[in-house]
Amino acid sequence: MLEEEVRQLREAHAQARAEADPFERFNRAQGIGAIRDPYAGIAALRAVAPVHHIALGSAPRPPGMPDAAMPRELYAVLSFDAVDEVLRDARRFCSEGYKLSMGPVMGHTILEMDGEEHQRHRALLSRAFTRRAVAHWERDLVRPIVHAYIDVFARRGEADLVRELTFPFPVRVVAAMIGLPIEEHRRFHRLAVELISVGVDWETGKRASRELRELYAPVVAARRRAPQDDLISVLAHAELDGTRLSDEEIYAFLCLLAPAGAETTYRSTSNLLFGLLSHPEQLDAVKRDRSLIPQATEEGLRWEPPLLNIIRTATEDTTVAGVAIAKGTPLALNLGGANRDPARWTDPDRFDVFRAPKPHLAFAIGAHVCMGMHLARMETRVLLDALFDRLPNLRLDPDADDVHISGLLFRSPHSLPVRFDPMRRA
Ligand code: HEM
Repeated sequence: MLEEEVRQLREAHAQARAEADPFERFNRAQGIGAIRDPYAGIAALRAVAPVHHIALGSAPRPPGMPDAAMPRELYAVLSFDAVDEVLRDARRFCSEGYKLSMGPVMGHTILEMDGEEHQRHRALLSRAFTRRAVAHWERDLVRPIVHAYIDVFARRGEADLVRELTFPFPVRVVAAMIGLPIEEHRRFHRLAVELISVGVDWETGKRASRELRELYAPVVAARRRAPQDDLISVLAHAELDGTRLSDEEIYAFLCLLAPAGAETTYRSTSNLLFGLLSHPEQLDAVKRDRSLIPQATEEGLRWEPPLLNIIRTATEDTTVAGVAIAKGTPLALNLGGANRDPARWTDPDRFDVFRAPKPHLAFAIGAHVCMGMHLARMETRVLLDALFDRLPNLRLDPDADDVHISGLLFRSPHSLPVRFDPMRRA
């Protein structure tokens, strides 16, 4: 990576420490800090039945949010088999629920598409996520960005790995991968956070959406004229049966990528690090044998998926696990509940990188399975390798008070204070 990029990263990092955490407000609204362990409640409910009807009534809405965006009832789906069944059946269960909740800020994205329209768009967008692209991102973006952040604290002997690494690095990766100019990366980060805050602050979400489109428009126009080695260029020139993506379709996909790519990876890497740091014998084992990184990554995702719930809607009168569900009713699929189902995993609340690997549902499954999962796994591997190589004797700060994961919809630790043997100057 260019030296200038590293310099700007350092500057941005110093600035970030001086500013308030842009996730703070959003985190609070999602129960980060307040809701420490939803899993005991989920387990108690799941033991009674895997699917529950929940009447939401007229819960308070953020000002400006239309009535229809807030369902009055839904079914909570809590077991692995039931969540898996719903996700794999795109005929009985569709994704149109996102039209009301995310559509107003993101536009018409693949997240809310179904059937043939979804397949066509996904095929076009997948052109940007090839094996070759992931290898290029690893070498030219992820590795240099991760190391640049570690450079800042490696000689200090202590750091907060959330504030100084896992929070800022994935958004820099997405911004660079999209092809945004570096001077816009910080603005992009703020807007990405504001965009998904739409559920708690409708007007701010809408404004962020307009600003993001203004940010993308000149770049899309420039890449249509002269493609470069970035994702916007791939999207601007991708063709399927003679059709190309319109500007509006590209903006929508980019609006989805901002939170999909950054928010989830920030939280999943933080959760895995928390799991390892709070189980030092497992941390040592993975550090000594790096071939364990992939299974540690999957266990982290199983144990604490960053995103707990996703939404589907019944397209017909149907049943799931024996429970009748009327056409048009939303279902909240609890990925966390599915991943801790005792019918599938022994002692599911335990973090154990030595478990026999079994597919989990953190990335969902079926037609909408996460498009960025290989990128996310690669980012996690690069991050762990870099930390293990550069921070000897890495451990949770023994003086830190009660470090833990919290949150209801999104989950992660608020901070990860660590100590290590400071790197000597070369
Ligand atoms: C550990 C990190 C990640 C997790 C846990 C995760 C999780 C998910 C889940 C659960 C879905 C399905 C949503 C639904 O159907 O309702 C999804 C979809 C998606 N993810 Fe990820 N994601 C992660 C990282 C990423 C990254 C890094 C990117 C790209 C930069 C990305 C891009 C997408 C896209 C585009 C979709 C929509 C796919 C579709 O609708 O067909 N994700 N992700």
